[in-house]
Amino acid sequence: MIDAPEKTAWVIGASSGLGAALATRLANEGYQVAISARRAERLQEMVSHQPKMHAFALDVADHDATTACANEILDRFGHLDLIVFCAVHGGETLGFHDRATKGMAIGLLGVTAALEPILSSMKERKSGHIAFIGSPVGFRALPGTGSYGVIKSALHYLAEQLKIELSIYSINVQLILPGFVDTELTQKNEFPMPFLMSVDEATDRIMRGMRKPSRFRVAFPRRLMWPMRLLGMLPDHLYHWVMSKLVKSVDKHQPRN
Ligand SMILES: NC(=O)c1ccc[n+]([C@@H]2O[C@H](COP(=O)([O-])OP(=O)(O)OC[C@H]3O[C@@H](n4cnc5c(N)ncnc54)[C@H](OP(=O)(O)O)[C@@H]3O)[C@@H](O)[C@H]2O)c1
Repeated sequence: MIDAPEKTAWVIGASSGLGAALATRLANEGYQVAISARRAERLQEMVSHQPKMHAFALDVADHDATTACANEILDRFGHLDLIVFCAVHGGETLGFHDRATKGMAIGLLGVTAALEPILSSMKERKSGHIAFIGSPVGFRALPGTGSYGVIKSALHYLAEQLKIELSIYSINVQLILPGFVDTELTQKNEFPMPFLMSVDEATDRIMRGMRKPSRFRVAFPRRLMWPMRLLGMLPDHLYHWVMSKLVKSVDKHQPRN
């Protein structure tokens, strides 16, 4: 076991984008940070710059390996104060069912596989912090988001369910809802991305939000979130009418994973 009197965190999906930036911030703030993703060489490079980071190469779609990795991290760190789920299916060209299968294996079942041992440990300690990176596309059905929207919507449900159920163990759960952020994930998008943020700006906002445990949803930027929330409050027939107007324009784009 490493000597971990400091806070400890595990960031899943830490080899690029928001996960890499969050892992770096947490380590710079003094956390011992376990970083996981498939690209082991990227993790090794991060570790070489920041000794508070520890690489645990992992494909979260392999659920047995994910649970084993969670146990290994608990053994090495002794406990986990924070777990952040960032992994997302990058979206190679697949059919509808295969995209959904792969997306869920990573973005939903990868989460539950990692959480199983972590939750037991956090419950025992009556302490812990779980942060899910969701997406505003999970608010309500949006055309063109494919299974990405379905998976995020399920993740939001899981986050809220855990928020309620884990409150008796003093385990905090947060749902992070960023607008468009300039990462590998979005760089292949061909549609307009209003209010696109840099990874640095989004990471600042997420770190600020994670320091306010009373906030369940950390949603930003407001200028994108408010219209989306208002749209989400429309009665079904009106919402469906508005969205159906969008269908033609999104139909020519490849749906996300
Ligand atoms: N960018 C945005 O505009 C935006 C907006 C809202 C929400 N989000 C959410 O933010 C999170 C981070 O996305 P990002 O934009 O930072 O994307 P990103 O740069 O593509 O990062 C995705 C991360 O997931 C990892 N990953 C993918 N498949 C994996 C697997 N099977 N096992 C383990 N790790 C895996 C990738 O690493 P490897 O390839 O090395 O495995 C990478 O580290 C996602 O949940 C995304 O849905 C992003």
